[in-house]
Amino acid sequence: MAKNLKRGTFITLEGCEGCGKSTQLKLLYGFLKKERFPVLMTREPGGTAIGDAVRRVLLDVRNGGMSVICETLLYMASRAQLVEEVILPKLQEKKVVLCDRWLDATIAYQGYAGSVDVPWIERLGRWVTQGVKPDLSLFLDLPVACGLRRARGRSLDRMEKKSLRFHEKVRRGYLEIAKREPKRFKRIPIRETDGIGEIHRKIQEGVLSVLCR
Ligand SMILES: Nc1ncnc2c1ncn2[C@@H]1O[C@H](COP(=O)(O)OP(=O)(O)OP(=O)(O)O)[C@@H](O)[C@H]1O
Ligand SMILES: [Mg+2]
Repeated sequence: MAKNLKRGTFITLEGCEGCGKSTQLKLLYGFLKKERFPVLMTREPGGTAIGDAVRRVLLDVRNGGMSVICETLLYMASRAQLVEEVILPKLQEKKVVLCDRWLDATIAYQGYAGSVDVPWIERLGRWVTQGVKPDLSLFLDLPVACGLRRARGRSLDRMEKKSLRFHEKVRRGYLEIAKREPKRFKRIPIRETDGIGEIHRKIQEGVLSVLCR
């Protein structure tokens, strides 16, 4: 029987390309399932049929001419649908919702790295998310070049093709968010040699401290 929680819990994983978000999210999902938490896993952009269609537009290498404002609004559109269709209803059902990236990614990529006004993204974000905020966001902070190398193990999508300098700015954006919201947004420093299991245990610890409070 699944555990009964007093309320829904929203947990997001953040970080630069190839830092291990998807790998770790799957492990975390498996762990919480085994521990009988009522858990589900989703991702951004995407997570709904409409969101997945938006994701294809965003990551398509043929859309190299996309303006950063268009990009921002497409991420927000996907997010709006995900909130309405998945996140709000599941949190109301007192589930643990795990999400691969969230509004913080738009703030880091399009805001800090892409020069879109950060307060404007935040304002739009509050509207789009209907005020839903993660209870915990874990920033997997692997050296940027290492993540890009790992991501290059497969073919690069449109966002990954941007320069190393751009991704360094993304990282600094995430660090800025961590400074501003230390209770919610926690940095997990990762060295190139850290194993998947080792990182998983750190994530597990952070997540359990939120689920058991
Ligand atoms: N601790 C680790 N050590 C070595 N390789 C790893 C580690 N964690 C993940 N990887 C590998 O690095 C690659 C990128 O990992 P993953 O896809 O989980 O990253 P991601 O953050 O989801 O990337 P993206 O931003 O592209 O979605 C994968 O090939 C994965 O198997
Ligand atoms: Mg991924």
